[in-house]
Amino acid sequence: MSQILSIENLAVTLQGDQRVIEDISLEVPEGEIVGIAGESGSGKSLTAAALLGLLPDRSQTSGHAWWRGGAEPRDLLTLDQRSWNRVRGREIAMVFQDATAALHPMLTVGTQITEHMRVHLQLSRRDARRRAVELLDRVRIPDPEASLRSYPHQFSGGMRQRVAIAAALACQPRLLIADEPTTALDVTVQAGILRLLEELRAETGLSVLFITHDLAVLAALTTQAYVFREGRVIESGATEELLFHPRHEYTKTLVAARPQADDWDEPEQVAR
Ligand SMILES: Nc1ncnc2c1ncn2[C@@H]1O[C@H](COP(=O)(O)OP(=O)(O)OP(=O)(O)O)[C@@H](O)[C@H]1O
Ligand SMILES: [Mg+2]
Repeated sequence: MSQILSIENLAVTLQGDQRVIEDISLEVPEGEIVGIAGESGSGKSLTAAALLGLLPDRSQTSGHAWWRGGAEPRDLLTLDQRSWNRVRGREIAMVFQDATAALHPMLTVGTQITEHMRVHLQLSRRDARRRAVELLDRVRIPDPEASLRSYPHQFSGGMRQRVAIAAALACQPRLLIADEPTTALDVTVQAGILRLLEELRAETGLSVLFITHDLAVLAALTTQAYVFREGRVIESGATEELLFHPRHEYTKTLVAARPQADDWDEPEQVAR
């Protein structure tokens, strides 16, 4: 199976010599959902930031992040600003924990989704709107036509996250990086979003890198998973194997710390 993304020995030092990522290697096979778990501060979001060229100013990186979702393989750690404009939002898109922050409060949903397409895909206003309706329909927003004219605050939290996913998918990215996209949502709404990501993967071959604190979400959604701690990968492998037979002491602690460990028998029902 081909890897759409291969991170090799990523290290990140922030301004003032603060070493925040020590050594991360990770692969995302094309068309799969790969998970990253790990305690707060372990470097999950900064890894995502490195993959999108969004590290804080004056950060230093070493290692490689080979991206094979474009015309030719490229190391994301060495892209210039011009190349980022082609890759970010277009080949690699992102959704965050807080959809409210990702969406502009004063712009209609329609404007926010079509803007990307008009810039990146050079679509006419009419074609962009048509595609926006399709996207909203695909993420199961009721009455997509009318929703285009609505503002983010008119939607519930779960619906806003769906809109943010639709906006992220507007330019048909090959990889979606999702950083705790369901943490702020209640469990049933969360299950709907997870199901949506799995459908998108199955139907369009989208690859997903999914960051979460929640090991049940990891079990339900991902096939491969990586456990981060203090800026390193301390354990990785097939998700089921990793969660049911953790080898590393730290992963064992993480698994044991989860309150309802027996829920894991049924994760298939949640996501698929
Ligand atoms: N802009 C920044 N400036 C300085 N330090 C930062 C910055 N962003 C992150 N850090 C530090 O880098 C480390 C890794 O942070 P990161 O945000 O990647 O953690 P995380 O695994 O995403 O945690 P969480 O689960 O809380 O989201 C932490 O020690 C954090 O305090
Ligand atoms: Mg984070």
